[in-house]
Amino acid sequence: MQTEHVSAPAIGLSKIEKWFGTRAQPVHALAPTDLDVPAGELLVLLGPSGCGKTTMLRMMGGLLEPTGGDLTIENRPLWKDGARQGETLSELGMVFQDANLFPWLTIEDNIALPLELKGVGKAERMARAHELTRLVGISGFEKRWPKELSGGMRQRAAIARALSYDPKILLMDEPFGALDAMTRDQMNLELQRIWMETRKTIVLVTHSISEATFLADRIVLLSPRPGRIDTIVNVPMARPRSLDVQTTPEFQDIARTLRHRLNEIS
Ligand SMILES: Nc1ncnc2c1ncn2[C@@H]1O[C@H](COP(=O)(O)OP(=O)(O)O)[C@@H](O)[C@H]1O
Ligand SMILES: [Mg+2]
Repeated sequence: MQTEHVSAPAIGLSKIEKWFGTRAQPVHALAPTDLDVPAGELLVLLGPSGCGKTTMLRMMGGLLEPTGGDLTIENRPLWKDGARQGETLSELGMVFQDANLFPWLTIEDNIALPLELKGVGKAERMARAHELTRLVGISGFEKRWPKELSGGMRQRAAIARALSYDPKILLMDEPFGALDAMTRDQMNLELQRIWMETRKTIVLVTHSISEATFLADRIVLLSPRPGRIDTIVNVPMARPRSLDVQTTPEFQDIARTLRHRLNEIS
């Protein structure tokens, strides 16, 4: 018999839970939830609006206090019985729907800003910013202003900024939700490439079935009222996946299963 090597998950949720609102009008945003995200996985949280995707992601990022439960990042406690434990900020990068670049900073200064806040010297910051513009495919735009870039390029810069201090984990909340369909497809390809180059652990929130199926190793389908894990779907398709994968029976089977289940729970 083979001995199985069990390594600690990059992110571990144990009975993590969130209530919002008042005693008169409480909202159970996330029922007690267990979930392990192994290191290097590209995990997608999928579900209808209001099912608790952002709530779960913000608790993983340390931005939102859970009502109860434990959460570990890289085997270190972040939340325990709903209370904040250590700082894990350097383990985490976050990307949101809006790039949120500072308009008065050039692209390279935006990307290097987290490093500047950490006290990293100018030469090292700029070297890292250039390395990252290459990684995300915006080399040559270092001296431009955010308003000179397209929406997709601004999102690339936001990803570069999130990677600036080389975190092990990238948390992304509908990062391509504001982009047109063609740009979004392109960004999905690019994110897959960046992930394959860097092997970060990624948790990505979306309500797009095709985006989830294209990108994910595993899809966690959440259902609303209260938010909770409904189903976990493995996506075993080989990588790198091209956009043509969407026309394969394998892809369409997974997408159909998700669509039917989403219709039932929404
Ligand atoms: N700050 C808040 N105050 C009260 N209710 C909230 C707050 N944030 C989220 N909620 C509620 O919690 C539930 C889950 O929200 P959210 O995590 O944003 O869902 P999703 O990201 O899946 O659309 C929703 O019912 C939402 O209205
Ligand atoms: Mg949300």
